[in-house]
Amino acid sequence: MFKRSFSLTRIQHIKRLQSSSSSVPKYSTSFLNSNVSKTTARRSTSFLNGHPAAIDTSNKVNPDEKSHFETLAPTWWDSKGSQRILHLMNLARMDFINEILRNYKVQLNANNSNGSKNDIDTDLYIPRFTTSVFPTEIKKNIENELNAAIYKELQKSELTVLDVGCGGGLLCESLARLPFIKKIDGIDMTPAVINIAKQHQSLDPVLAEKLTYAVRSIDEQKGQYDIVTMFEMLEHVDDPKEILISGWEHVKSNGGILFLSTINRDLISWFTTIFMGEYVLKVVPLGTHHLSKYINSREIIAWFKEMYPLSHEVLQVKGTMYIPGKGWVNHDCSNVGNYLMAIQKK
Ligand SMILES: C[S@@+](CC[C@H](N)C(=O)[O-])C[C@H]1O[C@@H](n2cnc3c(N)ncnc32)[C@H](O)[C@@H]1O
Repeated sequence: MFKRSFSLTRIQHIKRLQSSSSSVPKYSTSFLNSNVSKTTARRSTSFLNGHPAAIDTSNKVNPDEKSHFETLAPTWWDSKGSQRILHLMNLARMDFINEILRNYKVQLNANNSNGSKNDIDTDLYIPRFTTSVFPTEIKKNIENELNAAIYKELQKSELTVLDVGCGGGLLCESLARLPFIKKIDGIDMTPAVINIAKQHQSLDPVLAEKLTYAVRSIDEQKGQYDIVTMFEMLEHVDDPKEILISGWEHVKSNGGILFLSTINRDLISWFTTIFMGEYVLKVVPLGTHHLSKYINSREIIAWFKEMYPLSHEVLQVKGTMYIPGKGWVNHDCSNVGNYLMAIQKK
């Protein structure tokens, strides 16, 4: 049902992911233990050896992280305040989410080469190959028509979303304004940020029907969703694997999608997110990030291969980079620095 129309591009993506995930690097625990607190070291070792199981993570918000985000809460919605980098990142991640939903939640059947039923638009031409072989004008016209048709189809959806570690609600509000999102639940373990999220939501009555916030752990949350998001939160928890396992349980089978973003554990990430971000440009509050809590994209891909070999597909992994003066730019190198990932449940 959620088969992608542009099959060629999809095959290219899968091939790239398969080749990038084939060599999963082994973790150096000495590197981790050299500069981390006891809690972090315990987390890092356990997520390496852990297996899916009934795990209670209900009280596992790190107290240091909680008090850090409590301090940042009052200026959360100031686009020049404590979360200015997240305000900018919101645009790049909304682009990523939109692209994935359009490609994996919509099926266009018009003009199939086998002459089968055309239930979209009798004049719509869907090429079975890349449009780059056409002259520019024709290529543009085909792409515009396809985009319009895909968007029209997407409008018919009524998707439900769970945003885990939603903070003050930057992503929740953006998602709630999309016409094809029917309901969104934002949960976080820091009461101060949820208060800010509720206050900001109350400024726009349109959000009241769709959006609900709660101070709640992922384990206490009920229900399954078309979309579960974990943006910029996995690097703030003590056991990201446990959170991922719990989050995955809330993703609907047969096409639900888990979206996440976090940071690869490498020197370039340290240089960009901590040295430049926190100390030089000061666009991120001091003490927000800890290199030892970063997670390589290859590790997440490997966990899913190990835990859910037959019931998941990594749809896409994109690197994303902050360029001062320009904002966040998505790119194809997902093994260095910040990255975005989409994983679909079969
Ligand atoms: C950097 S903020 C990201 C907020 C939001 N996801 C965004 O990207 O706009 C990280 C958030 O994760 C929350 N958090 C940390 N540990 C958590 C846990 N165990 N369960 C739920 N939320 C958690 C923090 O309270 C904080 O609001």
